[in-house]
Amino acid sequence: MNEELDKKQKKEEESYEKTIRPLTLDEYVGQSEVKENLAIFIKAAIMRDEPLDHTLLYGPPGLGKTTLANIIANELGSNIKTSSGPAIEKAGDLAALLSSLEPGDVLFIDEIHRIPRFIEEILYSAMEDFTLDIIIGTDATSHSVKIDLPPFTLIGATTRAGDLTSPLRDRFGIINKLNYYTEEELRDIAKRTGRVLGVSITEDAALELARRSRGTPRIVNRLFRRVRDFALVSGKSEIDEEITKYALDKLKVDSLGLDQTDYNLLKSIIEKFNGGPVGIEAIASSIGEEQTTIEDVYEPYLLQTGLLKRTARGRMVTKKAYDHLGIPYNDKMQ
Ligand SMILES: Nc1ncnc2c1ncn2[C@@H]1O[C@H](COP(=O)(O)OP(=O)(O)O)[C@@H](O)[C@H]1O
Ligand SMILES: [Mg+2]
Repeated sequence: MNEELDKKQKKEEESYEKTIRPLTLDEYVGQSEVKENLAIFIKAAIMRDEPLDHTLLYGPPGLGKTTLANIIANELGSNIKTSSGPAIEKAGDLAALLSSLEPGDVLFIDEIHRIPRFIEEILYSAMEDFTLDIIIGTDATSHSVKIDLPPFTLIGATTRAGDLTSPLRDRFGIINKLNYYTEEELRDIAKRTGRVLGVSITEDAALELARRSRGTPRIVNRLFRRVRDFALVSGKSEIDEEITKYALDKLKVDSLGLDQTDYNLLKSIIEKFNGGPVGIEAIASSIGEEQTTIEDVYEPYLLQTGLLKRTARGRMVTKKAYDHLGIPYNDKMQ
């Protein structure tokens, strides 16, 4: 039952995200360096009438990788075919995908680090020479065939660039890291979302949303929707700062955008491990989260805000975190 609900919610959220997704580089807020470079590479590819170099986008979830992949295809005037690492289970899945490509297509593979290694090798020749090497048959009569592919652009997205093998990483001509957004950028995203949805939001309210969205467009948009509900129910025709603060407090999103899991994580290091240093496995089991979820979703933001630091001996909670949680910090030897 719960799972059904989860699925429904996820679907709904995906369709919401789709409606507010920017479609051009101009509409894509922030990441200016990435955008400027891409604009040049895209223009050059069009002038040369060649496909754009294979492009890798990496960074924490919700920062705009999928959005950017779609924008790149749009700016190239190309069709985009989308798949993901976990969906590619057999060599045949990837072969089918590759052989369905038309000249100039963009193939977007999300979570590309999750393609099994033995399948990944098929990508090497596809990316390098636009050929597909496959082995037909399994017995003594098996032989390999080479099929020519049309020129195409592979766009890979990953939350963990470190998990890519180097042969795969080396075949991407363009590698872009997406960074957390500034408050001003997130404010602009909130304002833009308001315009797209036809909901008015004050400057102050947009900035308050931005402050509490842990540098992440997906979160600013998600909170926008919740705050809009509060405004509607309380009879406000505009989202203002007051209703925003009220709603975010109700939703238990604190002034730094930390949620319950962040709290559990920091508190558990403080209470069970005396502030650290402690290994990631121990943290994961003490709060009942997957290690990869902590590494991909929670830790990067806590590191960025300086609440957590990484040392050779493990993770440590900083004085800033003690202060933020209101826990006395005794100046122990760290
Ligand atoms: N630079 C941006 N400008 C405006 N909106 C953005 C930007 N980046 C992401 N978003 C919004 O955030 C949501 C999540 O982005 P998405 O591309 O799905 O993230 P990722 O693939 O990195 O997890 C999308 O709905 C999109 O509208
Ligand atoms: Mg994505």
